[in-house]
Amino acid sequence: MHSHTIRTQFLEYFQQRGHQLVPSFPLVPRDDPTLLLVNAGMVPFKPFFLGLREPPANRLTTCQKAFRTVDIDEVGSSAVHDTFFEMLGNFSFGAYFKAETIEFAFEFLTSTVGLSPERLYPSVHPADSDSLGLWERVAGFPESRITKLADNYWQAGPTGPCGGDSEIYYDLGPEFGFGPKERPGTGSRFLEIWNLVFMDSERFADGTTKPLDRPGVDTGLGLERLAMVLQGVPSIFDTDLFAPILMDFQARSRATTVTATERLRHLRILADHTRGACALIGDDVRPSNEGRGYVLRRILRRALVSAFSLEVEGGLIPAAEVAVQILGVQYPEMRAGLPAIKEILSQESSRFQETLDRGMGQFQTLADGASSGKISGADAFRLHDTFGFPFELTQDLAQARGLQVDEPAFQELLEAQRDRARTSRTTAPSGDGNDARAHPAVDPGPLPTTRFRGYEEVELETEVLFVQSNGTAVARAEEGPEVQVVLADNPFYAEGGGQVGDRGALAWAGGAALVLDSQPSEQGASLQLVRVLRGELAAGQRVLARVDPTYRRGTAAHHSATHLLNRALREVLGEGVVQRGSYVATDHATFDFSWPEAISAEQLTEVERCVNRALRHDLPRLVELLSVDEARRSGAVALPEETYGEVVRVVSFGDFSKELCGGTHVTRTGEIGAAILTGSRSVGQGLRRIELVAGEAAERWWEAQRTHLADLSAAVQSPAPEILVRVRALQDRVREMERELRRGRQLGAAGAGGSVAVEQVAGSPLATEDLGPELDRRELRQHGDTLLERAPGGAAVVVAGGQLLIRLSEAQVSRGLSAGTMAETVCRELGGRG
Ligand code: SER
Repeated sequence: MHSHTIRTQFLEYFQQRGHQLVPSFPLVPRDDPTLLLVNAGMVPFKPFFLGLREPPANRLTTCQKAFRTVDIDEVGSSAVHDTFFEMLGNFSFGAYFKAETIEFAFEFLTSTVGLSPERLYPSVHPADSDSLGLWERVAGFPESRITKLADNYWQAGPTGPCGGDSEIYYDLGPEFGFGPKERPGTGSRFLEIWNLVFMDSERFADGTTKPLDRPGVDTGLGLERLAMVLQGVPSIFDTDLFAPILMDFQARSRATTVTATERLRHLRILADHTRGACALIGDDVRPSNEGRGYVLRRILRRALVSAFSLEVEGGLIPAAEVAVQILGVQYPEMRAGLPAIKEILSQESSRFQETLDRGMGQFQTLADGASSGKISGADAFRLHDTFGFPFELTQDLAQARGLQVDEPAFQELLEAQRDRARTSRTTAPSGDGNDARAHPAVDPGPLPTTRFRGYEEVELETEVLFVQSNGTAVARAEEGPEVQVVLADNPFYAEGGGQVGDRGALAWAGGAALVLDSQPSEQGASLQLVRVLRGELAAGQRVLARVDPTYRRGTAAHHSATHLLNRALREVLGEGVVQRGSYVATDHATFDFSWPEAISAEQLTEVERCVNRALRHDLPRLVELLSVDEARRSGAVALPEETYGEVVRVVSFGDFSKELCGGTHVTRTGEIGAAILTGSRSVGQGLRRIELVAGEAAERWWEAQRTHLADLSAAVQSPAPEILVRVRALQDRVREMERELRRGRQLGAAGAGGSVAVEQVAGSPLATEDLGPELDRRELRQHGDTLLERAPGGAAVVVAGGQLLIRLSEAQVSRGLSAGTMAETVCRELGGRG
């Protein structure tokens, strides 16, 4: 039966039984941070099971694209393991439960697609007597035919809906098994084809469960496996879903020395990974060094290694076109995505080719010099670690030249490196929810990898792996412009998590250089920005690398102080404080958090006291590597918008503070010495920033404050505690003097000043005064009033700079004089305008 007929028959069967058909969701889960990729048909329906949203109907059926990397190492060696696969499913949200589910499954398998009941072997959870009884009734199987398996339980991720299940196995026949004792759940004779999950609980992050209000059903039937059974072929790779892709690669393979077993393994890897890459790219995943982008890069690189081993002409693209043709029947988005698929395959292939070319040169040298007929584990490891050359390829190439590789020694070195990586990284690239391991076997970028050793050491001897200038590799660097270098072992913290990159120095026989900054490269390597002071620096040079201890002490003190501040803010303001970011330098730090109101001076003091109490308690630092789940359960604080890998670094100070963090810290809080909150302000709607100085920077800060105070004290000639009283007294005195000055001017106007003249004009007194500079209007008017008192019944004229004021007594106004007319006349006389 053609695979597309299987899809159609399944979906029609369930539609005829009242199920609404829903098209496949993309592989990238929507609103589900617990998973990188959809790994089962039920994933998009989690909110329906949990009662958080209502489904479009209480019976649904889908053919869902799914992706799992948990078995990636099996792909190739196993007949039935793949990464990308299609899951046929029927779902009930309170519409039916165990009885109908088992009846539907048995009927579909035996009547619709015609499998012999003799070949079917159900399993049930040991506690699920209902399902046991149902299988006996529906299929007429005796109890002995139904296997009780304790691991018949299913959940999609660390949290969410879950429940016991009943799995249906198909007996492939004794030729597929290893012996007569095989039973469903062990060996390879009995193939699990369909999983019927009875969702009845919800699991929470702390491991507890609660019954669902409305139990549901989630079933998953593997299309590739059912196709294998129905098409009577020995592996999923022989079905119409895979075989044309394998055949395309086989037709283009030019390798002649590969064994048949190895060839088959490579062809399966090529077919599976190319198909998977097409599905991921079709759903807008792009290669990168983390998350789902890393999954894509990883499978592409594994495929490229196999293409290299089989000497495939023309690369992955022709086979990708075949894969899209096959899957495009069901998933039109893959057809539409073909141009992007081709472009990305071509880009990734040429990038990886550079890594392969570099490693090939090294391999040739090694192989030419391998007089003992053996390549040592250390050499193979150097190829892998420094040049990103896959170990698998070293093995293949060695085999073709009749050489052996010391694999146990290689694995030992690899394990040691992973241990180091585990203790030195905050996060590791995530898998798909079922695969928590990082997979550093392939260097994702052109730069060699570097091991960060700076948590334990600030000074070490190491080797320069790479020197580049403006992004281009150079043979050596001399005194002059800055260059970037990559070190094999690296004590320098590359900027990240808000903490600035380390500074320091490199020294070697005949040379020295300053490390001005450390930054992460796009490919995840750590780059040191270096200025050579003396001598020449070239790849391969052994150097002493030393982090500036004062610089590092400063960043550590400030980083640890921000953790304590985070906790103290919660203590004082409440648990509603949510960190939004931080900047940690060697001489100060800022800490941003959401809080709706301004922080009062009293609150700030209280928070500062709380931080300093934590310093005086001299709390010890503890660093743990935990799964995200364990970390959250332990109450560790994480940045809400940050995505974390499966393994996280958790930094605690006593029982006071616990945070997910990759930064460098003091070993005990007492080392910080002191922390001062130097300010708080708003940096956006509902967003506050606190500035702090800690450690030696705190000392510098109060030294500066003391100098300011001493200067002030000298200037006002008072000891510090009396400065305020003295300054207030001085301010009062200044105000008093200003008043006196004004009064003096008025007195001057009232007669003391020499510029006042009083004369008789037309029988009336006229007083005039020239005040010199201009005054404000109020003062001018006051002068006018005072001056008029000197000319009773007459008039007063005041001139101040360009101002003219004329004041007439009541008597003059009654006589018909107008101040306005007089002013105009005077102005005209003076040659001005009023
Ligand atoms: N969720 C179950 C599985 O993936 C059944 O669909 O096996």
